[in-house]
Amino acid sequence: MMTVDRRRFIKQTLMAGAALTLSAADLKAYAEEKRTKVRLGFIAVGLRGQTHLSEMLKRNDVEIIAMADPDKQMMAMAQALVAKYNKKAPVEYTNGPNDYKNLLKRDDIDAVFVASPWDWHLPHGVDAMNAGKIVAMEVCGGMKLQDSWDFVNAYEKTKVPLMALENVCYRRDIMAVFNMVKKGLFGEMLHVQGGYEHDLREVLFNGGAPHTEGVEFGAKGFSEAKWRTLQHQARNGELYPTHGLGPVANMIDINRGNRLTRLSSIATKSRGLHRFIVNNPKGGPNHPNAKATFKLGDIVTTQIQTANEETILLTHDTSSPRPYNLGFRVQGTNGIWQDYSSGEPESGFIHFEDKSPHHEWENPKKYMEEYDHPLWKKYETNAADSGHGGMDFFVDNAFIECIKRDIPFPLDVYDLATWYAITPLSEKSIAEKGQVQDIPDFTKGAWKTRKPVFGLESEY
Ligand SMILES: NC(=O)c1ccc[n+]([C@@H]2O[C@H](COP(=O)([O-])OP(=O)(O)OC[C@H]3O[C@@H](n4cnc5c(N)ncnc54)[C@H](O)[C@@H]3O)[C@@H](O)[C@H]2O)c1
Repeated sequence: MMTVDRRRFIKQTLMAGAALTLSAADLKAYAEEKRTKVRLGFIAVGLRGQTHLSEMLKRNDVEIIAMADPDKQMMAMAQALVAKYNKKAPVEYTNGPNDYKNLLKRDDIDAVFVASPWDWHLPHGVDAMNAGKIVAMEVCGGMKLQDSWDFVNAYEKTKVPLMALENVCYRRDIMAVFNMVKKGLFGEMLHVQGGYEHDLREVLFNGGAPHTEGVEFGAKGFSEAKWRTLQHQARNGELYPTHGLGPVANMIDINRGNRLTRLSSIATKSRGLHRFIVNNPKGGPNHPNAKATFKLGDIVTTQIQTANEETILLTHDTSSPRPYNLGFRVQGTNGIWQDYSSGEPESGFIHFEDKSPHHEWENPKKYMEEYDHPLWKKYETNAADSGHGGMDFFVDNAFIECIKRDIPFPLDVYDLATWYAITPLSEKSIAEKGQVQDIPDFTKGAWKTRKPVFGLESEY
């Protein structure tokens, strides 16, 4: 059964979808209408699902009703977390990969978190929307271009909203730079860069159990080694676009006054994962996995053009020895910022023509402090013990607070569809030797009138 709050939420989202011109004043007006509790289900409680679960367990405005995951070990870990917080054990759905459908039949759940392997995102998200459950969807790239349309079509049919859980959009330095962009410090925007530049070799392979090392993957692997490594075997493309693209897309108003128009991708040879297996003390040249082949190039580079004539460069780099750095660069007619390391305010370089010494880089710390986003100022303490340096608090908080206040999500189904589309289009481009691919307009023209939402609120 739909609650009154739910109906109002859907009606307002419909209005937003129809007009697509919500102003900040409108948001404030809606923000005053509140519901006090959000009843939650979890689809997939692996390692990432457990992070969202921890965030929710800290709150007193949610109730965790049920969890679905066929992996009994992961389910036991999730229930142990719930017990640690002295909360009531949620109902379990562990009877195979389709048992989540029984969770979705419940009438006491308002919203679901989905943190499943990539090939399950589409059925989990669409089935949830069809069941009237608001969706928080973890990130990845689409399996096929049609997935993006299927998400959008399900939303437009049901009007049940979906939020893309792109946590890097909420990283403190990213939000400060977003603030600088919006205040015009960079001048007119020209170019942005980002990527997923993270040595994942010890995630893609392990010994088959938590906290073990090794070169196992697939059925013998644990967590992401069970399924993510198979994607690296089967596909050559920008497999994980959202951590790099989401944050910079907000800075240049993608789907809200601007849009992605076309892309071209190229890839290096594939060496890193095979090298890891044969050089590993638990592997070696005679280990059966030394025969495994990996289609994914070690470094995949994607260039994207926008309607407002900016360029975007994305890099996927997960199979080589390299310290973590998402490689952000934000450049406009008056200045440039380059990220270095993991988001610390003093790492990286910045230069503004009207502020910095001529032709010299400055340390960004003073700018990061001066332009610290109001959200971070407000919630620094709440976020202190949250995942990924605090950004997980913000993305999950936005999901719950938007539901409570009946307002559109800052990262919505059109953003998810656009970001997911990069993966299949980049695969096609690489297969066609870098051929340029048109990026569909999932908003069907509404990008021209949709107003920016992300980061404009200081409440959530
Ligand atoms: N935003 C981030 O920072 C971040 C970090 C890690 C992972 N992720 C994303 O989160 C998602 C999950 O990754 P993970 O690290 O938790 O992987 P994981 O392997 O630890 O967990 C996946 C879980 O999904 C369960 N599952 C598989 N099929 C299912 C089905 N049909 N129904 C219900 N559950 C099912 C598995 O049993 C497993 O417990 C992926 O999309 C990943 O890219 C995001």
